[in-house]
Amino acid sequence: MRHLIDINDLSIEEIDRLIAVADDIIADPQKYAEVCHGKKLATLFFEPSTRTRLSFEAAMMELGGNVLGFSSADSSSSAKGESVSDTIRVVSYYADVIAMRHPKEGAPRVASAVSDVPVINAGDGGHNHPTQTLTDLLTIHREKGRLSDMTVGLCGDLMFGRTVHSLISAMSRYENVKFILISPPELRVPDYITQTVLKRRGCEYEVAESLDSSMEKLDILYMTRIQRERFFNEADYLRLKDTYILDTDKMALGKPDLSVMHPLPRVNEIDTAVDADPRAAYFRQAKYGKYIRMALILMLLGKEI
Ligand code: NCD
Repeated sequence: MRHLIDINDLSIEEIDRLIAVADDIIADPQKYAEVCHGKKLATLFFEPSTRTRLSFEAAMMELGGNVLGFSSADSSSSAKGESVSDTIRVVSYYADVIAMRHPKEGAPRVASAVSDVPVINAGDGGHNHPTQTLTDLLTIHREKGRLSDMTVGLCGDLMFGRTVHSLISAMSRYENVKFILISPPELRVPDYITQTVLKRRGCEYEVAESLDSSMEKLDILYMTRIQRERFFNEADYLRLKDTYILDTDKMALGKPDLSVMHPLPRVNEIDTAVDADPRAAYFRQAKYGKYIRMALILMLLGKEI
């Protein structure tokens, strides 16, 4: 039985295969319409979500399966004091695969140790978000036709932004990918990413504070939200929240074939005027999230076509 807790649980070959299956689903969704008939996905969300939960549920429905679950900790027995382990042990009797999001780093790993069915990490605190990364990789592949030989700028809250950590872990395994890490000094990527991912894998990277002066170098610009809910105090959040705002003036500094990505939700960090620029890929990215999750469910249920 396979789980997806960390993006490194998948080999590059498996990621490439998931992307190929997602491309095939996009080309011919009808072929997959009944593949998961009689199967159930449980979505256990102990933290807010729109795209991740709904795209997981839509994914299972479009495979002919069913969904059950909860969308806040308050509506589950966790409000009565039940442990994650007990909740998962029980839900794994009712469902064939579980997608869970939890504010505590490592909760999905704990869950996977007691579950009878595959567990998917749908975001654990400020740590990891592997299915967002699969979405991001499918998007980059569809926008650029490759996952190697490019400069990726990550901008915003690189400290608490879990999507950033998983994306660096994945992209650093492809050939000739260079990172520009654009953030205020307080919100740089955690040391473990620099030490055990970037340095150990011999990746080229640059630490920057200015988005303007990085723009012209980028093939991908990955914007992120300042993660208010993970800050220790509101004053720091208020001070840092508008550090980077991508607007049409900044877009004018970017390459003609730049792709702008964002896991969403956006708050202030991308001006809505940028949405009309063909280089704005973030809504396409949200759409692709459903297809790659369909491919992932197929893989974990052993139903690859
Ligand atoms: C992200 C998350 O939950 O980490 N959202 C998502 O899943 N698309 C990004 C965020 O909340 O800023």
